[in-house]
Amino acid sequence: MRMVDLIEKKREGHELTKAEIQFIIDGYTKGDIPDYQISAILMAVYFNDMTDQERAHLTMAMVESGDTIDLSAIHGIKVDKHSTGGVGDTTTLVLAPLVAALDIPVAKMSGRGLGHTGGTIDKLESIDGFHVEISTNDFIEYVNRDKMAVIGQTGNLTPADKKLYALRDVTATVNAIPLIASSIMSKKIAAGSDAIVLDVKTGAGAFMKTIEEAEQLARAMVKIGQEVGRQTMAVISDMSQPLGYAIGNALEMKEAIDTLRGEGPEDLTELSLLLGSQMVVLAKKADTLEEARGMLQEVIDNGKALEKFKVFIKNQGGDPSIVDQPEKLPEATYKIDVPAKQSGYISKIVADEMGVASMLLGAGRATKEDDIDLAVGIVLKAKIGDEVKEGETLVTIHSNQENVDDVIGKIYDCISFADAVESPKLVHKVITE
Ligand code: URA
Ligand code: CA
Repeated sequence: MRMVDLIEKKREGHELTKAEIQFIIDGYTKGDIPDYQISAILMAVYFNDMTDQERAHLTMAMVESGDTIDLSAIHGIKVDKHSTGGVGDTTTLVLAPLVAALDIPVAKMSGRGLGHTGGTIDKLESIDGFHVEISTNDFIEYVNRDKMAVIGQTGNLTPADKKLYALRDVTATVNAIPLIASSIMSKKIAAGSDAIVLDVKTGAGAFMKTIEEAEQLARAMVKIGQEVGRQTMAVISDMSQPLGYAIGNALEMKEAIDTLRGEGPEDLTELSLLLGSQMVVLAKKADTLEEARGMLQEVIDNGKALEKFKVFIKNQGGDPSIVDQPEKLPEATYKIDVPAKQSGYISKIVADEMGVASMLLGAGRATKEDDIDLAVGIVLKAKIGDEVKEGETLVTIHSNQENVDDVIGKIYDCISFADAVESPKLVHKVITE
């Protein structure tokens, strides 16, 4: 096979075979095919798209480019959740114990935050003693015994995706549905799950700015899942404003605990129940989303989800008493209320910029090497559609530095007012096939 022929084939809009796609991915991973030829074929894909079969072959070729996690020692159907990235998105911390409380195994591989989005591991590390550096044996034992464990990224998963993503970044080919969909799905499949629930975010703070784009991406990923034998469902949810009220690691941990107790923000609760219902159906513990939702509501009401969370924290070295005494979580020295400069209805809280404001306080990393401050962040006091009066608190900044003028300026830039505003729809679409 010659790479130049494959570039020409894709340029002319023809379908590549499984063997051809494997040749490309394999050759690129090994360094046999140069960046310039891959750049050319990426651009050809950008313009000519890929068929469902091509997308599935590309996904599996990327899965096979590196290590895969073998979860076969864990009993039951392993369902994983993936979000395309949001601000203040604490759903994983709510979902995992919720679903585990229904005896569904949650074997979660998580990451740290970078840029304006947070990471589940950072949030968990706000619990004194908690760590994700556990052996694979312990990981599997905890999930089999208690149905839930979280581990950091291990192994060399999908090296082809890492190389391709970096190249796409500098060749203006990131924004192509077949490439995004296969990139995300390859990582989830390599992490060993049997079934996948996707939370595709849309709005100012999201990768997919419009509902139409988000739906295209969601349908592409659900289709790939079907093609490669991993049942997949998706939700398209709003990220025009941060999810819940809290942004920041310990602050979000507390918000997750409140939500598991049934006292959390409405949007975080609703999204957790909806994504959780899909996980329960895919795990074959319920036939319908409605039935699943009832089961999830029950483990919130009877305290089983919260109990599950405590067991999980204890297994991984953390202090479970923070669940009943969240005041034991790290707390910032300064709490600074930011008042509204005018009266009106909130019309915008630009999610990604709020994430940046939180990062400026030290809650997030600008580069992978940065240290973060687990205590700091921002708590919203109102959301889009809420009425506020001049002088009322818009947000409270939790900071360990006294002077936060730059952050306050940024927050004012993010929040707009109008005369009358409806609160945005949280869930735009539920895609089950
Ligand atoms: N996120 C990914 O993981 N891959 C993409 O290609 C885009 C967003
Ligand atoms: Ca939140």
